[in-house]
Amino acid sequence: MASRIRSAVFPVAGRGTRFLPATKASPKEMLPIVDKPLIQYAVEEALAAGATKLIFVTGASKRAIEDHFDTDAELERALESGGKDELLKLVRDIVPDGVDCIYIRQGVPLGLGHAVLCARGAVGAEPFFVHLADDLIFSQTACLEQMRVHYERYACSVLGVERVPEDQTGSYGIVAVEDEAGSVQRVTRIVEKPDPAAAPSNLAVVGRYILTPAIFDKLAVTDRGAGNEIQLTDAIASLLEDEPVHALEFDGVRYDCGSKLGYLRATVEYGLRHSELGGRFRDYLTRLKH
Ligand code: G1P
Repeated sequence: MASRIRSAVFPVAGRGTRFLPATKASPKEMLPIVDKPLIQYAVEEALAAGATKLIFVTGASKRAIEDHFDTDAELERALESGGKDELLKLVRDIVPDGVDCIYIRQGVPLGLGHAVLCARGAVGAEPFFVHLADDLIFSQTACLEQMRVHYERYACSVLGVERVPEDQTGSYGIVAVEDEAGSVQRVTRIVEKPDPAAAPSNLAVVGRYILTPAIFDKLAVTDRGAGNEIQLTDAIASLLEDEPVHALEFDGVRYDCGSKLGYLRATVEYGLRHSELGGRFRDYLTRLKH
């Protein structure tokens, strides 16, 4: 039987150089999409999938993330005495009761695989989620929840994937699956950032993982790979020699908020969907077109 997934790991140590100077003193995960930072969207998705332990693997200049998820008594008092009940609720609900936040420092920037390995002690010997906040996914059912439902049935590691244009394989972990037309896609190969000519398919891993704890032993012996970093992809390649790993094409729209264009797309589309602003923003955009 599949065990319950309690932990969600958020690797947030990367410097976000693509967004400099915005990210010089402020973490890229704190960039807002309309009125919420990327990392809060990430946390909300993990909570929707049942996570109760949020593990942030952080680095230098990431204090703002801890502050964001901490109680701010002074702010709460000010909102309370000003009668701003809605805002007070908004601030208090960021982390629901019964949910723990754990912060681990990744002292050296050795890559995503190393970041996940840093969370080993906090996760323990249980399956867990990994969520990359750069990949923002809009969907009716949270992407991690879709993956969790699949995990519950098959009790194996699950990778969230989507098809990308063939010339973009060099930006992703790319998987080959046993039966592309089948309802369950068992991964047969995974390669980190292959050139289009060498890519086994155009099915890309987009920052959502459910991993069994066996990944930690694999990570512990994974050498540096692409970009001279310890790659999670390489550890998964080794894992699938021992256990099944599935790829799941989730329902939803992904925004690559690690790129400026993807970030702007997300801002526009979340703006259009926003309950307070959507209508007026649409009018504005329509006028802008003429
Ligand atoms: C990381 C992973 C890659 C994955 C991607 C998803 O790469 O290494 O396998 O496809 O995230 O966004 P990064 O974008 O951090 O270079």
